[in-house]
Formats: sequence, structure tokens, C-alpha cells
Amino acid sequence: MLEVLNKVPSGDVLLLHGCCHNPTGMDLSAGQWDEVIKVVVERGLVPFIDLAYQGFADSLDEDAYGVRAMFDRVPEMIVAASCSKNFGLYRERAGALTFVSSNADTAAIVSSQALNIVRTMYSLPPDHGGAAVTIILDDPDLRNEWLAELNEMRKRMKEMRSMIIAGLGKTAPDRDFSHIERANGMFCYLGVSPEQVARLKQEYGIYLVDSGRINVCGITGDNVEYLCASIAAVI
Ligand SMILES: Cc1ncc(COP(=O)(O)O)c(C=O)c1O
Repeated sequence: MLEVLNKVPSGDVLLLHGCCHNPTGMDLSAGQWDEVIKVVVERGLVPFIDLAYQGFADSLDEDAYGVRAMFDRVPEMIVAASCSKNFGLYRERAGALTFVSSNADTAAIVSSQALNIVRTMYSLPPDHGGAAVTIILDDPDLRNEWLAELNEMRKRMKEMRSMIIAGLGKTAPDRDFSHIERANGMFCYLGVSPEQVARLKQEYGIYLVDSGRINVCGITGDNVEYLCASIAAVI
């Protein structure tokens, strides 16, 4: 990754995922973020961090490491934060787009450009999802309740990962699937071919995208045994 980043022309925008990388689930460690940030600073790149799963990897706080460390080092950056998943508000288009500028003049230019785009794209944003998030975050009790639910979601996703690994350990012991447990968030690659994906769909009624990316939230205690047996049958 560093080798490639070291070839990116200065001034280019570099899109990074804040945590729970989609589709791989493979995140940068804190030390790896620091290495990437060093290159961003050296080459004068403009980081654009897409943060769609904050709270799904380690915790709300720890998942912000990359955003915060980048913010400490660069003069300009863009952050797109989504509430679709961590607030369960997928249909409400709730989130925040943040531009960091190095001075007030640049901030005014960026703001007027952004408002022009907003005006031509959607004019006025949907309000109710954002209003719900504001109410929750502004109220200590509601915030704590939401944090508990967020922790619950994270715990469940990790449990599903352990469950599928245990199941595949029994049905397909010759194959190493341990990467599934090292990945964070909702997604990871199963490591199956498009032909095997087609068989999973047609013969077993299991749906995943052709790349073999799975959404671990679809795994439950009731279907994991059937899922692991089906995967073993097609590989
Ligand atoms: C990395 C990433 N960013 C953004 C989104 C979409 O966010 P939103 O629902 O806020 O458009 C997704 C998935 O839906 C995603 O995986």
C-alpha cells in the first residue's frame, strides 16, 4: 500500500476508509495509519476519510484513531461520516460531511462550492434522521443507551465471525478461513470464485455478491450450520 501511495501525485485526493473497510474488513492498525499519514504529509495529498462504520470495529472512540491522527497532521482534509449503520438509519440519509481548511479564506471558498453542489443535487437535505441523531447525542441517557446498543451490534458481529470459523473448521478443515476473524465490521471476503457463488445461490439459496464478499450480519445461530455445510459442498 505504501509503495503505491508513494507514487500518487501531490495534490491528489486520497480516499481511505476510517474503519471496517468495505469490502475486505481489513483495517490499518494505529502504527500503519501513522505510516500512511507520513506519506500523505510528505506528498501533500488531500485525505478524504469515509467513516461509515464507526463503533463496529473496536469502539466508537478507538475507531476514530485514523481520522484524529490525520487531523493532527494535515492542513486540509475531508471526512464523510455516515449514521446509516451505527444508528440504523439507512433510509434517512443521516451523516455529516466535514471539510477541514487551513485558513478562513479557503474555508469560505470550499463552503460556497459545497453549497452550490448541494443546491443543484438536493437543495434541502432530509431532516428527520439527522434530528433524531442530534436528540440522541445531546441527551446523556439516550447517548448511553445508543452506545450500549452499538456495543451489542459489534459484539454480535464478532460472535458471528467466530461462529462461521468454528463451523467451517468442521465442514472444511483443510481450508484456512482465519482471515474472517481478523476482519472488522460487517464485511469480508469468503474466498470463493464467481462459479462457487453461483452454486451457492442456485443450489443452496445463499446469496452473496460475485466477488465472494459476505455480510456477516446475515449469519445467525439458526443458519450457520447450513451455511458452513453449503460452503464446504461448493469448495
Ligand atoms: C465505506 C462506505 N461508505 C459509505 C456508505 C454509504 O453511506 P450512506 O448510507 O451514508 O450513503 C457505505 C455503505 O453503504 C460504505 O460501505
